[in-house]
Amino acid sequence: MDAKQLSDQLKKPSGEAGLEVAEALNESNQRLYDLAFEIMPAQPEAQIIEIGFGNGKHFADYFRVEPNLKLTGVDFSPDMCREAKNRNQEFINNKQLSVHCCDTSALPFPDHTFDVAVALNVIYFLDPPEVHLKEIKRILKPDGKFLIGYRPRHSVEHLEFTKQNFILYESDELSSLLEENGFTITMEEIRTYKKRAMDHTELTICDCCLIAKNDATA
Ligand SMILES: C[S@@+](CC[C@H](N)C(=O)[O-])C[C@H]1O[C@@H](n2cnc3c(N)ncnc32)[C@H](O)[C@@H]1O
Repeated sequence: MDAKQLSDQLKKPSGEAGLEVAEALNESNQRLYDLAFEIMPAQPEAQIIEIGFGNGKHFADYFRVEPNLKLTGVDFSPDMCREAKNRNQEFINNKQLSVHCCDTSALPFPDHTFDVAVALNVIYFLDPPEVHLKEIKRILKPDGKFLIGYRPRHSVEHLEFTKQNFILYESDELSSLLEENGFTITMEEIRTYKKRAMDHTELTICDCCLIAKNDATA
């Protein structure tokens, strides 16, 4: 797979190759998910939505954080939705989880539905970001939180596959974007670590998570 094909698959995984890319993401993004679960404001009975869940492998982890959550997943890739439903049938049957195939620019939920929205490695693809942020703000409760996990520009811009499809942000740029669109940043965590790539070169990974509160006055 060349860099353009990988970039397209990361934006919207499809077919056999998309399933393989999604499996690889499970491994490469595990620590970012761990960080998100560490800081997630997950109260019992909270309504949580994950945007861009990939193959849905991480849905089970939410219930380890808080068994009484009500979880909703949205992803615009039909193949990811099918895979996530297959993997999580028990949660769906128990009415703990519902999965919807849709774009974040038009979410099929009433205003003020969710306590927390989570999007890990998705912010890059929301274009133009204002349209998607407006919709995410609309479905959050007035004091709801938006938890974003991402890798900042300086840590990934040298990777060929980020040169198309991706909008990359440094932390201050993402914070400004959120504040201009009716959110207030309440927390930011950054973890940097080294890892060996498949070709044995050393990579520096920078996992960032921030929590932005829906500013009901904005
Ligand atoms: C790079 S993958 C990240 C998957 C997973 N969150 C992770 O970190 O491993 C991006 C996911 O977001 C979904 N996605 C991208 N843009 C989207 C949009 N506008 N609306 C809904 N889903 C979107 C893609 O289909 C894909 O499953």
